[in-house]
Amino acid sequence: MGTIPELRFGNIVRPYCIIQGGMGAGVSGPRLTRAVWRNGGLGVLSSAGLKDFYTITKGRSYTTYEAVQEEIATAMTDGYGVGLNVMGILAESYDETVTAALDAKVSVIFFGAGVPKRGTIFKDTAFGLITSSARGLKIMLRYCHQKPDVIILEGPNAAGGHLGARLEDIGQSELELEELLPEVLEVATKNGNIPVIVAGGIYTNTDIWKFRGLGASGVQLGTRFLATEESSATAEFKRAVVECRQEDIITVGSSPCGFPFRILKCSPAYLELLAGTRRPKCRMGYVLGKDKEGHYTICKAHPNHPEHSKYFCICDALRAAIGLAPGEPAMYTVGTNAYRVDKILPVSELMIELAHN
Ligand SMILES: Cc1cc2nc3c(=O)[nH]c(=O)nc-3n(C[C@H](O)[C@H](O)[C@H](O)COP(=O)(O)O)c2cc1C
Repeated sequence: MGTIPELRFGNIVRPYCIIQGGMGAGVSGPRLTRAVWRNGGLGVLSSAGLKDFYTITKGRSYTTYEAVQEEIATAMTDGYGVGLNVMGILAESYDETVTAALDAKVSVIFFGAGVPKRGTIFKDTAFGLITSSARGLKIMLRYCHQKPDVIILEGPNAAGGHLGARLEDIGQSELELEELLPEVLEVATKNGNIPVIVAGGIYTNTDIWKFRGLGASGVQLGTRFLATEESSATAEFKRAVVECRQEDIITVGSSPCGFPFRILKCSPAYLELLAGTRRPKCRMGYVLGKDKEGHYTICKAHPNHPEHSKYFCICDALRAAIGLAPGEPAMYTVGTNAYRVDKILPVSELMIELAHN
């Protein structure tokens, strides 16, 4: 349908209205975000687990602050811009991550499952909220003390990663992106004409034009960028994406994050779970909440948690998906369009396909 329009929000201007969504843990690193930026889009880093990834790969102990700063500095070398995805559920590293990102002057922070804390000062940085419904957005805006620069509407019926809906509701027609968008646009308009970006199931240039026609300011894609040469997923993960069939993509409710999770059912960690041989070690502890007294809770997948048998341990499995947990079985998260991927592309080719064809 022809060349797509530019992306504009806050202080961000890019030639194409394409955002590469943050992909944890460690799947969207600086190599990917830089390639996306060079080819006219906006790349987003994932902040999950960075302290451990730097400690493992650099051979010395890192704090979250140091790791986040280094990740952003690497991504922004030579004047490149980059976004950072921060998830409220990762309470243990949340404050340090946001402080480091603001100090590093990251271009934009996208908040998933949470809003910025009161008093956060976004001087050189834009901020966005990720939501899966107009209802969720209204609640977020009520708790948010500043106007966001952009809203990402992520449709739970098709997106990769954790999903913002109840497991039993996923697949219902009301949760299709086309159905969710009008009401979200209405809320965004009423709250000061905030641009809305759509995510979940966007695959082609035609899809991008379709959602532009429905009022979206741009699109965010995960799965297509996962299947690029520059993503940090292991060769095994990328091969599993290329080889998967539609029926291999399932949604499970047993992530300790408390949200449904879309995965490939051939994921080695999932096969272990089905076989009943998965033993959580909980060495990482990324997924910790805080109780009423402000103490960290134990992960729901930890053997000491009373309900641990209902959940699977994901930290090691996600590290294994980027090759940082040798010998550990990996967990592969994808969007429902993963079965359409038939080869791994360089970002330059993917961007040309999406922006022009
Ligand atoms: C491998 C993978 C990891 C992801 N990790 C995260 C994450 O850590 N935080 C987040 O907000 N979204 C995450 N997502 C969601 C993407 O950022 C994006 O919004 C979504 O995948 C869009 O749907 P699509 O895959 O159909 O393009 C992930 C998606 C994938 C495929």
